[in-house]
Amino acid sequence: MAISQVLINAVEKLKQEKIPTPRLDAEILLSHILKKSREYIYTYPNYKLSKSIVARYALCVTRRIKGEPIAYITGHKEFYGLNFFVNKNVLVPRPETELMVDEALRAAHNPANALQNGAGAQRITLIDVGTGSGCIIISLAKLLKNKIRNPKSEIRYLATDISKPALAIAKKNAKLHHVDKQINPAPLGQSYNKNNVNDNKKLPQRCGVKFLHGNLLEPFLKLIKKPKFKIQNSKFIILANLPYLTPAQIKNSPSIQCEPKIALNAGHDGLKYYRELFKQIKKLNTLYVMRYALCEIDPRQTVMLKQLIKKILPKAKIQIKKDLSGLNRLAIINIPNSCLSR
Ligand SMILES: C[S@@+](CC[C@H](N)C(=O)[O-])C[C@H]1O[C@@H](n2cnc3c(N)ncnc32)[C@H](O)[C@@H]1O
Repeated sequence: MAISQVLINAVEKLKQEKIPTPRLDAEILLSHILKKSREYIYTYPNYKLSKSIVARYALCVTRRIKGEPIAYITGHKEFYGLNFFVNKNVLVPRPETELMVDEALRAAHNPANALQNGAGAQRITLIDVGTGSGCIIISLAKLLKNKIRNPKSEIRYLATDISKPALAIAKKNAKLHHVDKQINPAPLGQSYNKNNVNDNKKLPQRCGVKFLHGNLLEPFLKLIKKPKFKIQNSKFIILANLPYLTPAQIKNSPSIQCEPKIALNAGHDGLKYYRELFKQIKKLNTLYVMRYALCEIDPRQTVMLKQLIKKILPKAKIQIKKDLSGLNRLAIINIPNSCLSR
């Protein structure tokens, strides 16, 4: 059967089943099966497909009709211009979450985050809580690796998740984007001499993401107790796109039924995890200079979230950013030391 006919049949089926973007989905799935671009499909409409290709394509269309996201069928999703592996164990990265990467970059570049004695050097710890596919922290590690050139700067990238299968995907993505190694090896032909810190060329840069299994910030709190994990005077940026939907919201959203409930369900008010996260933040020792927590929210939670922050971290300043659809999407919480328990 020719490409054009196979596509017409698929679009018809997807339309009948009320799939919102039938033509686009049919084209993406066919280009996935053919391992060719969508342009190829337009250029060769008369190209005859083998029976086995047509059968494999039909299976993909059936999966889509059953409600599986396109990204699970193709096995990948683009986020911040980068390609990420995804499967049923991780949330499909959403375009609105790119706002968190924009704001984290802004916070990382803020001169207020420079070390006082370091002539523009930065010491920042970025912690992605509930990392899922790793899309947020990996995008940041990849972008900052090239942008922060001062060899005395130190940026640590940490990520936690309660789901071990999700962490396995995040680690695979870190490897794909070459941000899986804790320390960059010394340049070829040169050995790194840690006593010679003035030799910028030989100084190793941290650029790898460290993935930790556990509940929200708990694995991080354990890590910083270890003497070798020296973190004093580092500015913290907590990145959290935690589950924020109620069971009723999940039930009423057919498009998310195949995604892991552990990535979506946040109890009766959708704030179960943010409530716990803010309580954990409050317990952080004041030695660890606190700065920002960036939290993605459901626009309908704005008022409740502000009340929650005022209750748990009363001196925190809150700014709400809108996404490209004009909806409240990101809470930027500036947390002074005076918020933390002593
Ligand atoms: C909404 S998804 C976000 C995934 C990813 N950060 C993104 O933006 O695409 C929430 C993630 O939080 C994780 N999660 C749920 N409960 C958690 C907990 N108590 N501690 C750590 N991670 C948790 C889930 O496994 C899931 O990967």
